[in-house]
Amino acid sequence: MRQPFIAGNWKMHKTNQEAVEMVEELVDLVGDIGDVDIAICAPATALAPLSEVTAGTNIALGAEDMHWEEEGAYTGEISPLMLKDVGCEYVILGHSERRDYFGETDEDVNKKVQTALKHSLKPIICVGESLAQREAEGTKDVVKNQVLAALDGVNIDDLKVITIAYEPLWAIGTGKSASTKEANEVIKYIRNVLRNEFGKVADSMRIQYGGSVKPHNISEFMATSDIDGALVGSASLEAQSFADIVKFE
Ligand code: G3H
Repeated sequence: MRQPFIAGNWKMHKTNQEAVEMVEELVDLVGDIGDVDIAICAPATALAPLSEVTAGTNIALGAEDMHWEEEGAYTGEISPLMLKDVGCEYVILGHSERRDYFGETDEDVNKKVQTALKHSLKPIICVGESLAQREAEGTKDVVKNQVLAALDGVNIDDLKVITIAYEPLWAIGTGKSASTKEANEVIKYIRNVLRNEFGKVADSMRIQYGGSVKPHNISEFMATSDIDGALVGSASLEAQSFADIVKFE
Protein backbone atom coordinates (compact mmCIF):
# COMPACT_ATOMS: atom_id res chain seq x y z
CA MET A 1 0.00 0.00 0.00
CA ARG A 2 3.01 2.30 0.27
CA GLN A 3 4.49 3.12 -3.14
CA PRO A 4 8.29 2.71 -3.11
CA PHE A 5 10.18 5.99 -3.10
CA ILE A 6 13.76 6.30 -4.33
CA ALA A 7 15.39 9.72 -3.94
CA GLY A 8 18.86 10.83 -4.91
CA ASN A 9 20.76 13.33 -2.79
CA TRP A 10 23.52 14.86 -4.85
CA LYS A 11 24.99 16.83 -1.91
CA MET A 12 27.60 19.37 -3.16
CA HIS A 13 28.12 17.92 -6.62
CA LYS A 14 27.52 18.95 -10.24
CA THR A 15 27.65 22.11 -12.27
CA ASN A 16 24.43 22.97 -14.08
CA GLN A 17 25.65 21.45 -17.32
CA GLU A 18 26.55 18.20 -15.57
CA ALA A 19 23.22 18.21 -13.74
CA VAL A 20 21.15 18.69 -16.89
CA GLU A 21 23.07 16.06 -18.86
CA MET A 22 22.69 13.49 -16.10
CA VAL A 23 18.95 14.02 -15.66
CA GLU A 24 18.33 13.98 -19.42
CA GLU A 25 19.99 10.56 -19.48
CA LEU A 26 18.01 9.48 -16.42
CA VAL A 27 14.71 10.43 -18.07
CA ASP A 28 15.60 8.11 -20.96
CA LEU A 29 16.43 5.29 -18.54
CA VAL A 30 13.50 5.47 -16.09
CA GLY A 31 10.90 7.55 -17.91
CA ASP A 32 8.51 4.61 -18.29
CA ILE A 33 8.47 3.58 -14.62
CA GLY A 34 5.15 4.18 -12.90
CA ASP A 35 5.23 2.09 -9.75
CA VAL A 36 8.13 3.82 -8.00
CA ASP A 37 8.23 7.48 -6.98
CA ILE A 38 11.53 9.02 -8.08
CA ALA A 39 13.14 12.27 -6.95
CA ILE A 40 16.43 14.03 -7.52
CA CYS A 41 17.44 16.37 -4.70
CA ALA A 42 19.99 18.73 -6.16
CA PRO A 43 22.05 21.76 -5.13
CA ALA A 44 20.04 24.99 -5.17
CA THR A 45 21.92 26.33 -8.20
CA ALA A 46 20.79 23.41 -10.37
CA LEU A 47 17.10 23.45 -9.44
CA ALA A 48 15.86 25.96 -12.03
CA PRO A 49 17.52 24.31 -15.04
CA LEU A 50 16.50 20.87 -13.76
CA SER A 51 12.87 21.93 -13.43
CA GLU A 52 12.82 22.33 -17.23
CA VAL A 53 14.33 18.87 -17.80
CA THR A 54 11.99 17.13 -15.33
CA ALA A 55 8.79 18.96 -16.37
CA GLY A 56 6.20 16.42 -17.54
CA THR A 57 8.36 13.44 -16.50
CA ASN A 58 8.05 10.97 -13.63
CA ILE A 59 11.10 12.49 -11.90
CA ALA A 60 10.28 14.92 -9.10
CA LEU A 61 12.62 17.64 -7.99
CA GLY A 62 13.79 18.19 -4.44
CA ALA A 63 16.08 20.53 -2.53
CA GLU A 64 18.73 19.46 -0.03
CA ASP A 65 17.79 21.96 2.68
CA MET A 66 15.99 25.25 3.18
CA HIS A 67 15.52 27.97 5.79
CA TRP A 68 12.40 28.11 7.93
CA GLU A 69 11.66 31.77 7.15
CA GLU A 70 9.93 32.87 3.96
CA GLU A 71 12.30 35.80 3.42
CA GLY A 72 14.58 38.09 5.35
CA ALA A 73 18.16 38.95 6.26
CA TYR A 74 19.61 35.42 6.12
CA THR A 75 22.62 35.72 3.85
CA GLY A 76 23.28 32.58 1.88
CA GLU A 77 20.01 30.87 2.75
CA ILE A 78 17.24 29.57 0.48
CA SER A 79 13.57 29.97 1.38
CA PRO A 80 10.59 27.67 0.80
CA LEU A 81 9.08 30.26 -1.56
CA MET A 82 12.20 30.08 -3.72
CA LEU A 83 12.02 26.28 -3.80
CA LYS A 84 8.37 26.34 -4.81
CA ASP A 85 9.19 28.92 -7.47
CA VAL A 86 11.63 26.53 -9.19
CA GLY A 87 9.26 23.57 -9.05
CA CYS A 88 10.46 21.61 -6.03
CA GLU A 89 8.13 18.97 -4.64
CA TYR A 90 10.43 17.62 -1.92
CA VAL A 91 12.98 19.00 0.50
CA ILE A 92 15.51 17.03 2.54
CA LEU A 93 15.57 18.29 6.14
CA GLY A 94 17.90 17.45 9.00
CA HIS A 95 20.48 15.51 7.00
CA SER A 96 23.26 14.40 9.34
CA GLU A 97 25.76 16.52 7.39
CA ARG A 98 23.65 19.59 8.18
CA ARG A 99 23.35 18.55 11.82
CA ASP A 100 27.07 17.71 12.18
CA TYR A 101 28.86 20.34 10.10
CA PHE A 102 26.43 23.24 10.45
CA GLY A 103 25.08 22.72 13.94
CA GLU A 104 21.48 22.16 12.93
CA THR A 105 19.39 21.21 15.96
CA ASP A 106 16.21 19.17 16.34
CA GLU A 107 14.41 22.46 16.96
CA ASP A 108 15.70 23.89 13.66
CA VAL A 109 14.58 20.76 11.85
CA ASN A 110 11.13 21.04 13.40
CA LYS A 111 10.77 24.68 12.30
CA LYS A 112 11.82 23.72 8.78
CA VAL A 113 9.34 20.82 8.71
CA GLN A 114 6.48 23.12 9.74
CA THR A 115 7.41 25.74 7.13
CA ALA A 116 7.86 23.16 4.38
CA LEU A 117 4.38 21.78 5.07
CA LYS A 118 2.90 25.27 5.09
CA HIS A 119 4.24 25.74 1.56
CA SER A 120 3.24 22.28 0.32
CA LEU A 121 6.80 21.02 0.13
CA LYS A 122 7.11 17.35 1.12
CA PRO A 123 9.80 16.88 3.76
CA ILE A 124 12.26 14.00 3.71
CA ILE A 125 13.38 14.04 7.34
CA CYS A 126 16.73 12.37 8.06
CA VAL A 127 17.43 10.64 11.35
CA GLY A 128 20.17 8.27 12.44
CA GLU A 129 22.69 7.36 15.08
CA SER A 130 26.49 7.72 15.14
CA LEU A 131 28.76 4.72 15.55
CA ALA A 132 29.40 5.64 19.20
CA GLN A 133 25.68 5.86 19.87
CA ARG A 134 25.11 2.50 18.20
CA GLU A 135 27.91 0.88 20.19
CA ALA A 136 26.39 2.28 23.38
CA GLU A 137 23.09 0.69 22.34
CA GLY A 138 21.53 4.11 21.95
CA THR A 139 20.16 3.71 18.42
CA LYS A 140 16.49 3.45 19.36
CA ASP A 141 16.55 6.39 21.76
CA VAL A 142 18.39 8.57 19.26
CA VAL A 143 16.04 7.92 16.35
CA LYS A 144 12.93 8.14 18.53
CA ASN A 145 14.00 11.52 19.90
CA GLN A 146 14.91 12.86 16.47
CA VAL A 147 11.66 11.69 14.87
CA LEU A 148 9.40 13.03 17.62
CA ALA A 149 11.27 16.34 17.81
CA ALA A 150 11.06 16.85 14.06
CA LEU A 151 7.32 16.15 14.06
CA ASP A 152 6.44 18.12 17.17
CA GLY A 153 3.24 20.11 16.57
CA VAL A 154 2.71 18.76 13.06
CA ASN A 155 -0.91 18.22 12.07
CA ILE A 156 -1.76 14.51 11.73
CA ASP A 157 -3.26 15.08 8.26
CA ASP A 158 0.10 16.41 7.07
CA LEU A 159 2.04 13.34 8.14
CA LYS A 160 1.08 11.38 5.02
CA VAL A 161 3.29 13.55 2.81
CA ILE A 162 6.30 13.19 5.08
CA THR A 163 9.05 10.67 4.41
CA ILE A 164 11.46 9.64 7.14
CA ALA A 165 14.94 8.60 5.99
CA TYR A 166 16.81 6.41 8.44
CA GLU A 167 20.49 6.96 7.76
CA PRO A 168 22.95 5.53 10.30
CA LEU A 169 25.86 7.97 10.22
CA TRP A 170 28.47 5.24 10.10
CA ALA A 171 27.00 3.95 6.83
CA ILE A 172 26.99 7.25 4.94
CA GLY A 173 29.61 7.47 2.21
CA THR A 174 31.62 4.69 3.81
CA GLY A 175 30.68 1.85 1.49
CA LYS A 176 29.55 0.06 4.65
CA SER A 177 25.78 -0.27 4.62
CA ALA A 178 23.73 -1.48 7.56
CA SER A 179 22.66 -5.08 7.15
CA THR A 180 19.15 -5.35 5.79
CA LYS A 181 18.10 -6.95 9.06
CA GLU A 182 19.55 -4.09 11.15
CA ALA A 183 18.06 -1.42 8.90
CA ASN A 184 14.64 -3.04 8.80
CA GLU A 185 14.60 -3.52 12.55
CA VAL A 186 15.26 0.19 13.20
CA ILE A 187 12.77 1.24 10.54
CA LYS A 188 10.12 -1.05 11.99
CA TYR A 189 10.85 0.53 15.37
CA ILE A 190 10.44 4.03 13.90
CA ARG A 191 7.07 3.00 12.47
CA ASN A 192 6.02 1.75 15.91
CA VAL A 193 7.06 5.07 17.44
CA LEU A 194 4.96 6.85 14.80
CA ARG A 195 2.02 4.52 15.41
CA ASN A 196 2.14 5.02 19.19
CA GLU A 197 2.30 8.77 18.80
CA PHE A 198 0.03 9.42 15.82
CA GLY A 199 -2.05 6.28 15.22
CA LYS A 200 -2.75 4.50 11.97
CA VAL A 201 -1.40 7.27 9.73
CA ALA A 202 1.97 5.66 10.52
CA ASP A 203 1.09 2.87 8.11
CA SER A 204 0.88 5.27 5.19
CA MET A 205 4.13 7.12 5.95
CA ARG A 206 7.13 6.08 3.92
CA ILE A 207 10.40 5.31 5.65
CA GLN A 208 13.54 5.07 3.55
CA TYR A 209 16.92 3.60 4.33
CA GLY A 210 20.03 5.60 3.41
CA GLY A 211 23.72 4.79 3.69
CA SER A 212 25.81 3.19 0.92
CA VAL A 213 22.80 2.04 -1.09
CA LYS A 214 24.07 0.71 -4.42
CA PRO A 215 22.63 -1.17 -7.41
CA HIS A 216 23.90 -4.46 -5.95
CA ASN A 217 22.22 -4.13 -2.52
CA ILE A 218 18.95 -2.24 -3.20
CA SER A 219 16.85 -5.36 -3.88
CA GLU A 220 17.72 -6.79 -0.49
CA PHE A 221 16.61 -3.63 1.30
CA MET A 222 13.41 -3.43 -0.73
CA ALA A 223 12.56 -7.05 0.05
CA THR A 224 12.20 -6.30 3.78
CA SER A 225 8.90 -5.73 5.56
CA ASP A 226 9.24 -2.05 6.46
CA ILE A 227 11.77 -0.33 4.17
CA ASP A 228 9.84 1.69 1.60
CA GLY A 229 12.70 3.08 -0.44
CA ALA A 230 16.11 4.65 -0.30
CA LEU A 231 17.84 8.00 0.02
CA VAL A 232 20.85 7.52 -2.22
CA GLY A 233 24.00 9.63 -2.06
CA SER A 234 27.00 8.81 -4.23
CA ALA A 235 25.24 6.18 -6.34
CA SER A 236 22.71 8.83 -7.44
CA LEU A 237 25.36 10.90 -9.20
CA GLU A 238 25.54 8.72 -12.27
CA ALA A 239 22.43 8.08 -14.38
CA GLN A 240 22.90 4.35 -15.03
CA SER A 241 23.67 3.52 -11.41
CA PHE A 242 20.72 5.54 -10.09
CA ALA A 243 18.45 4.00 -12.75
CA ASP A 244 19.57 0.52 -11.70
CA ILE A 245 18.58 1.37 -8.12
CA VAL A 246 15.20 2.74 -9.23
CA LYS A 247 14.61 -0.48 -11.20
CA PHE A 248 15.41 -2.61 -8.18
CA GLU A 249 13.06 -5.51 -8.93
O1 G3H B 1 21.49 11.26 1.75
C1 G3H B 1 22.14 10.28 1.41
C2 G3H B 1 23.03 9.63 2.35
O2 G3H B 1 23.79 10.52 3.06
C3 G3H B 1 23.74 8.42 1.84
O3 G3H B 1 24.90 8.72 1.13
O4 G3H B 1 24.70 6.76 -0.41
O5 G3H B 1 26.76 8.17 -0.40
O6 G3H B 1 26.25 6.66 1.53
P1 G3H B 1 25.71 7.50 0.44
